[in-house]
Amino acid sequence: MNLKQLLVTALLVAGLAAVSAIASDKETAPSGRLVIHADQPSDTISRNIYGHFSEHLGRCIYEGIWVGEDSPIPNTRGIRNDVVAALKRIKVPVLRWPGGCFADEYHWQDGIGPRSQRPSMVNTHWGGVVENNQFGTHEFLDLCEQLGCEPYICGNLGSGSVQEMQQWVEYITFDGISPLAELRRNNGHPAPWKLKFFAVGNENWGCGGNMTAQFYSDQYKRYATYVRNFGTNQIYKVACGPNGGNYQWTETLMHEAGKRMAGLALHYYCGSGKKKQLAAVFDEGDWFAQLQRALQMEELVTKHSEVMDKYDPDRKVALIVDEWGTWHQVEPGTNPGFLYQQNTLRDALVAGVTLNIFNNHCRRVRMANIAQMINVLQAVILTEKEKMILTPTFHVFEMFAVHHDARLLPSEIQCPDYEFGSAKLPQINASASRDRDGRIHVTLCNLDPKNASEVACKLDGAKVARISGRILTAPEMSAHNTFGSPETLKTATFEGTRISADGFVTTLPAKSIVVLEIE
Ligand code: AHR
Repeated sequence: MNLKQLLVTALLVAGLAAVSAIASDKETAPSGRLVIHADQPSDTISRNIYGHFSEHLGRCIYEGIWVGEDSPIPNTRGIRNDVVAALKRIKVPVLRWPGGCFADEYHWQDGIGPRSQRPSMVNTHWGGVVENNQFGTHEFLDLCEQLGCEPYICGNLGSGSVQEMQQWVEYITFDGISPLAELRRNNGHPAPWKLKFFAVGNENWGCGGNMTAQFYSDQYKRYATYVRNFGTNQIYKVACGPNGGNYQWTETLMHEAGKRMAGLALHYYCGSGKKKQLAAVFDEGDWFAQLQRALQMEELVTKHSEVMDKYDPDRKVALIVDEWGTWHQVEPGTNPGFLYQQNTLRDALVAGVTLNIFNNHCRRVRMANIAQMINVLQAVILTEKEKMILTPTFHVFEMFAVHHDARLLPSEIQCPDYEFGSAKLPQINASASRDRDGRIHVTLCNLDPKNASEVACKLDGAKVARISGRILTAPEMSAHNTFGSPETLKTATFEGTRISADGFVTTLPAKSIVVLEIE
């Protein structure tokens, strides 16, 4: 080859390299930019945002939590040891019980005293099965003690009396001489329990009595009057709030009763569309639509907060999202009234984006409870007799636990869109906080199932000495854990981050959830 031929060949090779570089540039999504204001720590992210919900529904309580003292499944006073150990890993801060719709049909006195003498009832809301009341007030409060979490009890306003609600609180919290305190002592609990969170009804616009906002406001004021503080126990009263985007409900409640409540409860489920589909059988269009609906939480908490701001500019009343999550078709062959669904990487992304939204709105959102904890809807745990698996959503709660009671660090993200057809969503969603030991944590979700994203982060007011991370992802959008393959999805060490002059640069793989720790 002479010099001229050599030059032509070299130019050709260089040209081809340039073309292939352009082609691969097209394959990778354009860069995102995240600015974290570490020099402007904001409000505390209440750990209660990471709360859970356990209803007498399907196999949540019975089988999922309660197996009874005589069960061959290892238990402590009837409560499954494996489940308690797993839940301790995610540091469950608060647990809502006994419903849901069940709460407004529940009569607490049926669930105390010797278990052999407790009456049975029909669980009309959920499958028409027999509720034998083996799991009642004492068992629930024992569960909370075993988990080290705050109990959050939902009272019966829909079909119960004012007296019944008043007496439940007295039974649990009164230390003096009264028939109710005496009854508790006779049932084996001499000391009163501490009970902070108490909801005055559930979904009273629907299953809790089909009330108008005005009628419920009046009922709320009446019932809440008798929910007393005994001794040093201070009850934090939560009023039934709106269903999704019903801003009129929030308006009426805040106008009529805003000064008499500590929290207002919003419910929002991002189901799998008008026609429910199985949790693990879907295509990219369904993935996109699901995440689009999950992101609507941003609009809901923003707009409900704006209505609340009018009546409560100092933000004394919390917005409490005490039911949220995905709601899919039940798994084939299961009781439709039991709401048992699988849980995939898509559900994990829903959890990740929702928790990031709550973190970023922590000034107003001070508690949230995913529905539900075990074997129902977007569960963190599934059980089958003595077996137990952790869902992808569990792993998100474990990764995000670093935000519990940390100070929010305001952040802004600019990122490319994740496009599907003619619709688009922001590809990246994030939140950041600083914990008591000074460590900064950033949680990031890449919603795009096909494209990785490089995000350059500028960290204002902090230097990065060390950075480490964990990731949850999988090759398939519908990846999930099963009893035969319990660890298809689990977290792994994440190495895709490097320190830069003003922060760090991280490359988030497609459809991934990442937590970074910066020291
Ligand atoms: O979480 C299942 C049900 O959804 C709850 O019982 C009810 O409050 C809501 O409609």
